[in-house]
Amino acid sequence: MKKTHLTFLLCLLLTATGMKAQESKTYILSSGKNSLAVTAKDNESAHFQYFGPKIQEKDLPGMFETGAVYWSKTIPVFGIDNYGENALAVEMPDGNMSLDLKLADRNLTSDDKGELLVLTFKDAVYPLTVKQYFRHYKDTEIFSTWIDITNNAKKGDVKLLNFASATIPLPRGDNYLTQFHGGWGSESWMNEEVLPNGQSVIADKAGLRNAFGSNPGFMISLDGKPRENSGEVFGGNLIWSGNYKTKINAYNGDIKIISGINEEESLYRLKPGETFQTPEFAMTVSNEGKGGISRAFHKWGRKHRLAHGDRSRDILLNSWEGVYFKVNQETMDQMMADFAALGGELFVMDDGWFGDKYPRDNDKTSLGDWTVAKKKLPLGIKGLTEAAKKHGIKFGIWIEPEMANTKSELYEKHPDWVLQHTNRPLQQGRGGTQVVLDLTNPKVQDHVFNVVDNLLTENPEIAYIKWDCNSDIMNYGSLNLPKDRQSELYIRYHRSLQNVLDRIRDKYPDVTIQLCASGGGRADYGLLPWFDEFWTSDNTDAYQRVFIQWGNSHFYPAIAQASHVSASPNHQTRREVPIKFRFDVAMSGRLGMEIQPKNMTAEEKEFSKRAIASYKEIRPIVQQGEQYRLVSPYEKKSIASLMYANDDKTKAVLFAYRMDYLNNQNVPMVKLQGIDENKVYKIKDLTPADPKKPSPLDGMTVSGKVLKNVGLNLGSTLSRPWTSTALELIAE
Ligand code: DGJ
Repeated sequence: MKKTHLTFLLCLLLTATGMKAQESKTYILSSGKNSLAVTAKDNESAHFQYFGPKIQEKDLPGMFETGAVYWSKTIPVFGIDNYGENALAVEMPDGNMSLDLKLADRNLTSDDKGELLVLTFKDAVYPLTVKQYFRHYKDTEIFSTWIDITNNAKKGDVKLLNFASATIPLPRGDNYLTQFHGGWGSESWMNEEVLPNGQSVIADKAGLRNAFGSNPGFMISLDGKPRENSGEVFGGNLIWSGNYKTKINAYNGDIKIISGINEEESLYRLKPGETFQTPEFAMTVSNEGKGGISRAFHKWGRKHRLAHGDRSRDILLNSWEGVYFKVNQETMDQMMADFAALGGELFVMDDGWFGDKYPRDNDKTSLGDWTVAKKKLPLGIKGLTEAAKKHGIKFGIWIEPEMANTKSELYEKHPDWVLQHTNRPLQQGRGGTQVVLDLTNPKVQDHVFNVVDNLLTENPEIAYIKWDCNSDIMNYGSLNLPKDRQSELYIRYHRSLQNVLDRIRDKYPDVTIQLCASGGGRADYGLLPWFDEFWTSDNTDAYQRVFIQWGNSHFYPAIAQASHVSASPNHQTRREVPIKFRFDVAMSGRLGMEIQPKNMTAEEKEFSKRAIASYKEIRPIVQQGEQYRLVSPYEKKSIASLMYANDDKTKAVLFAYRMDYLNNQNVPMVKLQGIDENKVYKIKDLTPADPKKPSPLDGMTVSGKVLKNVGLNLGSTLSRPWTSTALELIAE
């Protein structure tokens, strides 16, 4: 008999003989489709036993008997008998580096978010408490886990050396790891490989833009090469805006995922009475392939993580690629008028509007001086909000409040407010002068809060803020933190940022705020509770956006992905792409534009007007519907295609793009998902290049069965390079 079975029988025996001290209970948390099971044994430990298709209590004995469970400690700790990777390692005030956690309490409750299992452990010798949480989010397929650590001693700091949020076992088999990597202009490129034996690490150490490099979201397939709509897949994502580290250990026939804040250069001293809370690790499993994981995260994102996840987003024009720093009253007014004429709903004035003593004409000056550059905007922000009102649209504004330039009034007044070393020259970033403010300093927190507060109290008409962040942490050092707390800077920065954002959201719950970090450098769930969306990438080339948006869609819903139509040739890649292709790509996310409308041709304007009107029609389906990725641009099948469907499957939208053009390529039939096989759908071309010559499919009716099993022939529609289609399907 396996040791695991013996342990289980022993537990039963002890329970039966009333030996309370060793009582053991297995808790099951369940969603609609899945369950997570943890066995907690009093005065001993807890074991993560199962995460997979839904089970019930009555299934457990058979699962234990047949060995269908993991018996993996929920918190492997360093120092006594754990020889492998640990999730928690500390140094006690007396130098002892071991932990011996005994289960002291366990409690399954539920609150308005869903079920919550809390396991309380106490060290056998030292006054240290660790609480471990397992949550299921109601009406979703997402589960999460995290821990908090409390130093109960009267004196002496406990040094936290390693403090992961999650330790998740998975079965080793034919596994693939899907992860997303990139950098400026090339965010979220998908990488899918066989999961190697040994250790794979997904991590970030940049300090601020933690979705550059690698995105914290990843998937592991459990039954071979991952597919979109079938196959078993695990998906996980650490909910933290700072440095993170996820280790995937594939040793000895098991997989163990350990994920949390990156502990490197982040030694944390836990004071007597202090509690350290780790961020949540969100996860799910699906037997509907990668698409199942994505749809679960999208729903949870809209319901539980994004600000205003249920509110439809305005179609906006951002001024950046249109005029860059050349902002002035007249040009802003003209852009607003032109955009309103196209049917736009919101105008966002980007960088270049501020700086009194040092006007912001380029990226070398003014960050920190959030007062209007009077020469450019003599009527102030009021002049702009009034212009927006006149044109019948809303107004938004760009800020980068966590930063300063050394050429700014702010820096002249408060040189001690920036991250720095006392005895080394200041390293300066963008424009040769950009530095990062020391958010651990409460005065700096007030400053950042006041930037937003002043703008919004003086101009309550501002409906939207674009919050940018164009640096990582340089000059690692804080004049505010004492010398023995310098190593806490990475963590304290993000906690402080959250405090400021809490203050902002308490006072301004309704304003729409975009999260931007040189493009998608902060495209993760760590900050999304305070933000409505993120700027997907500074790369607005529609062709590359198909890949970038595809990558992001694995964890983040379309409503959060700002997707803008920009000029052709594209400013980043010089690629020339027709306006229809550019719109068809941007319409698959949160549609916007980033262009000087006055430079557009009459045909482009006419097309934009029609496309914007069409987007308004399908906005609820794209922004609130279920997404299905149909043909991957990575598979080089000449096209890429994705679609959205509403909950009752009465309406769907299909997007398809011609990506390659070689003579021997056939455009594959595109088989739809998420529609009802028993319904009949009428097809409508949403964006015909010429309204008199819509797609040959326009007006046709096709059964759900055919759409799903036979597919749509898009060969003639996508016959040339840069052709694309956006079709609405309406159930009759
Ligand atoms: C970086 C952002 O990603 C751009 O969209 C733009 O806002 C610039 N910063 C402005 O400096």
